[in-house]
Amino acid sequence: MRNKIIRRTMQVIAFIMLVLVISSLNSCQDSNPLSNDTEPKLLSQEQHSINPSELPQPMIVGGTQVDPACPNCKYDFMVSLQSTGWWGGGHFCGGSLVREDWVVTAAHCVLGDSPSNLQVKIGLHNVNGTTGSVTRNVSEIIIHPSYNSNSLNNDYALLRLSSPITNFEPIKLVTSDSHDDEPVISTTMGWGATQSGGSSSAILLEVDVPIDNSCGNYSNSSITNNMVCAGDSNGGEDSCQGDSGGPLIMTNDNGEYELIGIVSWGYGCAEAQYPGVYSRIYPKLDWFFGYIGEPEEEFEVDLYGDVNFDGTLNVTDVITLINFVLGQTTIEEESLTADMNQDTIINVLDVILLVNEILGTNFSQSVQWLENNFPTFKVKERLANLDKSQFFAKKFCCDKKPKEMSCEELKLEYRKLLLDYQGLKAKYKLLQRLDLDKQKILKQLSEK
Ligand code: ARG
Repeated sequence: MRNKIIRRTMQVIAFIMLVLVISSLNSCQDSNPLSNDTEPKLLSQEQHSINPSELPQPMIVGGTQVDPACPNCKYDFMVSLQSTGWWGGGHFCGGSLVREDWVVTAAHCVLGDSPSNLQVKIGLHNVNGTTGSVTRNVSEIIIHPSYNSNSLNNDYALLRLSSPITNFEPIKLVTSDSHDDEPVISTTMGWGATQSGGSSSAILLEVDVPIDNSCGNYSNSSITNNMVCAGDSNGGEDSCQGDSGGPLIMTNDNGEYELIGIVSWGYGCAEAQYPGVYSRIYPKLDWFFGYIGEPEEEFEVDLYGDVNFDGTLNVTDVITLINFVLGQTTIEEESLTADMNQDTIINVLDVILLVNEILGTNFSQSVQWLENNFPTFKVKERLANLDKSQFFAKKFCCDKKPKEMSCEELKLEYRKLLLDYQGLKAKYKLLQRLDLDKQKILKQLSEK
């Protein structure tokens, strides 16, 4: 009798374990839209005939540790999604900060989750904690309405944070589909498995993967327009389980990172002819912007003298510039293109230079033209009243220097500026952090 009970209990336990194993096989982490196809079944047999020791022994798969590590974060925007439930928390997916209060991740990471069981951690190098990291609760999970959990088509989700993250720089969403023109090297990163079925990495790893529009040996039907493949055809480098939701990025012409994809799925990891598959950001920009807002327009001066920003230089710019000099202008941006000689002063000289530019006249011809057409501007009088010493000093410095610089010198100058910029940026971040601390302390004091 006792034996019978024990055997029965064992059977029940075995059954429960079997159910657990099966359900974990079906869980999202391992979801593989190809598992119903016949092709991969053949391949998985092939895979078993390969001796594992012959395969490259890898990280993210085939990657390296991100350097500089946080708190000097090379990838400021990289977040870890962690669950907070009683069953034990911890990292389960990656994500990208795209606005102060918005994170992009994969739908399959958060489908069916409740915001209260989720936390977003940013500023991590070691996924278990890095000094300076910041944690936020999630107030809303938004799954793309067309997400299909079988095909993983439209594997996009947005997390609204309970309060903004101000001391980490969000990543831009990709602005054009130019990354479709191969070969583009993109980068993916995460704390996921370092090989298919392997254990995950405590340290943030990154790997470069070329965009692969052929998508290797995947069947056409499994790859939709909302997916982009990345990985070398020989395999060896890839994202893997636990990297899902994390970013696929590239560097644009201005040297900034852009988010082009979200780690979504793959057949195994780093297999030859089976690149990683990422949800493509570009086709869904409108959906994203509907929630997170359009990106702020960046101001770029590409046409000096185009004071009214219509893309051409003509007499209306002269009129606007004259009004500017007369002190009647209102918008701040105008001062950036109005300063024709870049001496940081906007005056009659800039008007003359603009006329030179538009009419192809020389200095005295332009003065005459202005005299004839805008007599009230009193161009000659203004010229006579100019502080000449200042004018010649500036003229000397600004006309001469750029022309005399060799290409090498310019490069050096550029690097110096870049270093200055990075230094300033670091200081700015530090200041922001100090400011946050100060606010916290003030708040504590006021509560006492
Ligand atoms: N679905 C996986 C996850 O939830 C990501 C798999 C990525 N696979 C790949 N071969 N790139 O973490």
